[in-house]
Amino acid sequence: MLQDRRSDALREDVHALLRRHLKEGYSGLLGREYCYIRPAPGRYPFQWFWDSCFHVVMLVRLGEHDIAKRTLRSLFAMQRADGFVGHMIFWNQVLPNRPTDIVQARPSWADLRPHMSELVQPPFVAQALERIYAATHDRVFLGELYARVRGYHQWLTCRDFDGDGLLTIISPFESGMDWKASYDPVVGNDARRTPRRLYTSRYFWQVVSIDWHNFLRRYDLQRIRARSRFLVKDVGYNTAYALDLAAMERLAPIAGDDPAPYRERRRRVARAMLERMYDEESAAFYDLWEPGARKLRILTPSIFFPLALAEIADDIAERVIAAHFSTPREFGTPFPLPSLAACDPAFYPGESSYLWRGPTWALPNWFLYHTLGRRGHAEEAERLRAGLWQAVQKSGFREYYDPFTGEGYGAHDFTWSGLLLDMH
Ligand code: GLC
Repeated sequence: MLQDRRSDALREDVHALLRRHLKEGYSGLLGREYCYIRPAPGRYPFQWFWDSCFHVVMLVRLGEHDIAKRTLRSLFAMQRADGFVGHMIFWNQVLPNRPTDIVQARPSWADLRPHMSELVQPPFVAQALERIYAATHDRVFLGELYARVRGYHQWLTCRDFDGDGLLTIISPFESGMDWKASYDPVVGNDARRTPRRLYTSRYFWQVVSIDWHNFLRRYDLQRIRARSRFLVKDVGYNTAYALDLAAMERLAPIAGDDPAPYRERRRRVARAMLERMYDEESAAFYDLWEPGARKLRILTPSIFFPLALAEIADDIAERVIAAHFSTPREFGTPFPLPSLAACDPAFYPGESSYLWRGPTWALPNWFLYHTLGRRGHAEEAERLRAGLWQAVQKSGFREYYDPFTGEGYGAHDFTWSGLLLDMH
């Protein structure tokens, strides 16, 4: 009963939060209406790609089907003829908050009107569309958006640079886990430290110079690939991709399309993840540094992500969980799941501009809650739910939390913590 009352209150709070962050408007230049949820109005006022997918999950849970549909429509409103959609959609405020992020778009005057960035974010989009369809059975909407998402997936195949099925990201920010510590060797942060300062730290410029490098090549993938500064096959990104392909496979027949290409792609991705990313000795899945498929042996929550794929056998899943999940010096902190193993030299649990290098975020908890539950690890799944729940009770909806104390940091009123709604 108490539990019910508390979840009712949570539902109301998340509903009010999303409503407060709703942004609707009309772009005269594009002749289009837009509608999306700002992750946190002050710090994150734009429409983000994967945030939009998480918002759809929450909106569907709240019965806000109309806003969920309009969110996806807006996400695809500026889709290019080749299928591309950027990770940030600038609808009204056309310049990013951090000046250095300007280079995440192509150099062009078009940047001074509504436009998109040139980066991508993990593809959870077919999964979001599937959520809407499951709740509404609206075939007309499905048909409209399926064509959009199909085009996007077509574009994504151009990131399969070497034909092994795995997609490559060209900037750390494309993982959605901006300053993810596993990229330290790639960006040249050999000291493996998390600096306290922003603009005066070498690490900051090492990362930003990657975006500069891509910007100066006008985001031409052939040129970027030829003169690689950052080419990574990210485990989290590719897990989302495989799951999205599975969703496309299920949606295709409903939309009157052929599911076979998605099935084939999904199988290849899963096989390649197992063959190339899995490390038997340390029982973990690692990001790959290309060219050369070098394993980046740094423990972040994405070592667990492929367990979401049915193709990964139970014995492997068991080994990964047993080796890393509950170990206090790795991920078994009082408020799991830290975004970097606690024993890592770069681990910093406090507030920092360098995101994803220690604190606990809602997303991995939400994602792995379902994964662990499906694998029969109810107790571990519950630990993730309870950890996030307690952090939210203690500190409110914050961007990320201290993995030892649950203290909240970063943006206030951050929408992602509302994913708790989808954890039971
Ligand atoms: C931060 C996160 C990124 C997210 C964005 C907007 O940059 O690292 O994943 O999309 O904020 O919420």
